[in-house]
Amino acid sequence: MREQWGSSAGFIVATIGAAVGLGNIWRFAYVTGENGGGAFLLLYLGCVALIGLPLMMAELALGRRAGADAVTAFDTCGRASIWRHAGWIGVIAAALILSYYAVIAGWALRYVFGAATGGLWQAGPAGYAAYFEGFIGHGVEPILWQATMLAAAGLVVSAGIKGGIERLNRWLMPVLAVIVVMLAAFAMTLPGGMRGVAFVLSPDWSVLARPAVYLNALGQAFFSLGVGMAVFITYASYLDRRTSIPRAAVAVAAGDTAFAIVAGLAIFPAVFAFGGDPAAGPRLAFVTLPQVFAHMPAGTIIGLVFFLLLAAAALTSMMSLLEVPVSVLVERTGLPRAGAVVIVTVAVFLAGLPSALSYGVLQHWTLGGLPLLDWVDQATSNITLPLGGLAVAIFVGWRIAPRAALADADLAQGRTGWIWLWLLRIVVPVTILLILLRSLAWW
Ligand code: PHE
Repeated sequence: MREQWGSSAGFIVATIGAAVGLGNIWRFAYVTGENGGGAFLLLYLGCVALIGLPLMMAELALGRRAGADAVTAFDTCGRASIWRHAGWIGVIAAALILSYYAVIAGWALRYVFGAATGGLWQAGPAGYAAYFEGFIGHGVEPILWQATMLAAAGLVVSAGIKGGIERLNRWLMPVLAVIVVMLAAFAMTLPGGMRGVAFVLSPDWSVLARPAVYLNALGQAFFSLGVGMAVFITYASYLDRRTSIPRAAVAVAAGDTAFAIVAGLAIFPAVFAFGGDPAAGPRLAFVTLPQVFAHMPAGTIIGLVFFLLLAAAALTSMMSLLEVPVSVLVERTGLPRAGAVVIVTVAVFLAGLPSALSYGVLQHWTLGGLPLLDWVDQATSNITLPLGGLAVAIFVGWRIAPRAALADADLAQGRTGWIWLWLLRIVVPVTILLILLRSLAWW
C-alpha cells in the first residue's frame, strides 16, 4: 500500500514546513525592501488570498484525488491529451528551484558555522560585504555547503513520508515559530526599531505606479506559498479523506503569511535601527544583517539563532521540493525510494553548480544583466511558477467535472465551493496571464 501521513496535524505541520522557508525570511525581506514596503505587502496579501489560496486548494484536491505522483495526477484524460505532460511543468519547476535554493540554504548553513565559531564576527564593521563576497566568490566552498544541505534533505526524504518528513517537521516547525517571534519581539524594542515596523506596515502608495511591483507581488506569493510546483499535489497524494482541504489550505496560507510578516518585523526594525539599507537586495540577509547584529546587544547570539532559523526553515522546504521528483521517479520506474533520492539529489546538485559558482568563477556570465543564480530565481518564480499555477487552475477549474472538483476539495456543500471554482476558472488564470504577458513585455 502507498504510504500515508501519520495524522492530519502531521500533514499540516509538514505542509507549513514546505511553505515556510527562505521565501519567508531571505526573499520576503529583500523583495519587500526593494518594492517599497507596506503597499507591496498589501498587494502580496491580495495575491495570497485571491490566487495563492484557491490554487493551493486545487493542488491539494488534485493530489489527494490522484493518490499518485504529480505527473500521474494530470494524466487522466487519455493518451492523446496534452494534459499527460502538464505535470512535468511542476516537476521541472521544483527541481530548478531546488537547484539554486540549495545554494542559498548552503550560504545560511555556512553563516551558522561562521557565527558559532566567531569567524563571522571578526569581519569588522566594514568587512561584512568582503566576508560575503570572499565566501561566495570562493571556488569550492559554496559547493561544499550546497552539497551538505542537499545531503541532509536527501537523508530525511529517504526515510519516507511519515518516518522522515513528518517526524522532522513535527518538532522543528514549532521551535522555528517560537524563535521568529522572539527575534521580532527583541528587534521591535531596539531604539529606532519602530521605523522598521512602519516600513512594513504603512503603505507608500506611490510604488503602485511601477508595473514590476505587481509581478513581484505575484511571484513572491507563488514562491512563498510554494504553489505552482506540484509540492501540494505530491504532499496531498499521501493524505486520507478525513482531513478537510479548505481548512488545511487556510492553515497553511495563514501560517506562511504570518511567518513572513513576523520575520519582516524581526528584520526591518533591526535594519532601520542601525541605518542599514532596506533595499539592499538578495544580500540583505547576508551582508546588512550581520552588520546590524554586530552592533546589537547580544548580537552574536541573535545572529547565530537567526542563521540557524534560516537554514532549518530552508531544509524543511528542500525536503518538499525533493519529494516531488522523487515520487515521480519511484512511482513511474519502480525504483526504491533511497535510489531515487540519490539520483535526484545528484542531478539537482549538478544543475545547481552554475548557481553556486555564479558569484565566483562564473561571475562574468550573466543573463539579462543578472548573475546566473538571480536569473534562475527570477525566471522560475516569475515565469515557471505562474505557468505551473495556470495549468492547475485550468485543469481543476475546467477539465474536471465541477461536481467532482467540488467534492475532491471537500466543498460539495454550500456556496463557498462555487466561489472557489469561479476564482479558479476566471480570476486566477486571467490575473496570471495578464501579469505574465506584462512581464514578458518588460523582460
Ligand atoms: N515556499 C518555500 C519558501 O518560502 C519555497 C518552496 C517553494 C518550497 C516551492 C516548496 C515549493 O521558501
